[in-house]
Amino acid sequence: MKLRVESFTKSFGAQRVLQDVKLEFDDVHSLVLIGPSGGGKSTLLRIIAGLERPDSGNLFLNDKKVIYQERELLFHRRSVGTVFQAYNLFPHLSALQNISLPLEKVHGHSRVEAKRTAKEILDRFQLLEHAGKSPAQLSGGQRQRVAIARAISIRPKLLLFDEPTSALDPEMTAEVLDVIAELRQEGRDFVLVTHQMGFARSVADQVALLSGGRIVECGQPQQILENPNSAVTKQFLSRILKY
Ligand SMILES: Nc1ncnc2c1ncn2[C@@H]1O[C@H](COP(=O)(O)OP(=O)(O)OP(=O)(O)O)[C@@H](O)[C@H]1O
Ligand SMILES: [Mg+2]
Repeated sequence: MKLRVESFTKSFGAQRVLQDVKLEFDDVHSLVLIGPSGGGKSTLLRIIAGLERPDSGNLFLNDKKVIYQERELLFHRRSVGTVFQAYNLFPHLSALQNISLPLEKVHGHSRVEAKRTAKEILDRFQLLEHAGKSPAQLSGGQRQRVAIARAISIRPKLLLFDEPTSALDPEMTAEVLDVIAELRQEGRDFVLVTHQMGFARSVADQVALLSGGRIVECGQPQQILENPNSAVTKQFLSRILKY
């Protein structure tokens, strides 16, 4: 994917959350955003997803400009698969319905087709036996896999994941990370926020560190994670690798 962010700024009230954020990649398949809490990672990802508008700046995906107006955003949002922090499943629907209903109601699949697709995807993630359970009856890892299954059910070219393993224990984390690594092998494009540096290293083509609303450093994972230039990156890494 070709991705270009031209000078995004974003404020919430008086707080400037993104400041002149620029990114440019001619061919990136897996961009990982890292950085300290409150740095603006989720905000940037939500703007890329079309869930939030920048105050200024532009986004181009494969040379196509994303138009931040309601009607255009509707289409944009439908074209990307998103998994955001914690669980955004519909609590009153079963795992199966969480996948099949959006396919039917939002993406225009027939009921039969939507159900078949949902079953296939649940099967792939070893969740078929849990298809009838509501989110509250699933474990954290299962819930997160259902959320990922739903995101990929629309066969998006671009997937946006915000800390897909937060709130999971190490075993479930490994499970979810395996699924993501597999999707990457399939050639899907990702922008992903993670606090797991090992995972970032293994899955990223490019890593960008966002702190205080700015891109502090951006480059190949080995360079950023093993040989950072910036003092901010060094400090961030030494803190998070300490524990
Ligand atoms: N809807 C909002 N209204 C007001 N302030 C917001 C809103 N969303 C985010 N912020 C503020 O913007 C800043 C950046 O938040 P953001 O969620 O992008 O950070 P983050 O890098 O994802 O942090 P974390 O690693 O903790 O998830 C924070 O100071 C946050 O309080
Ligand atoms: Mg966040």
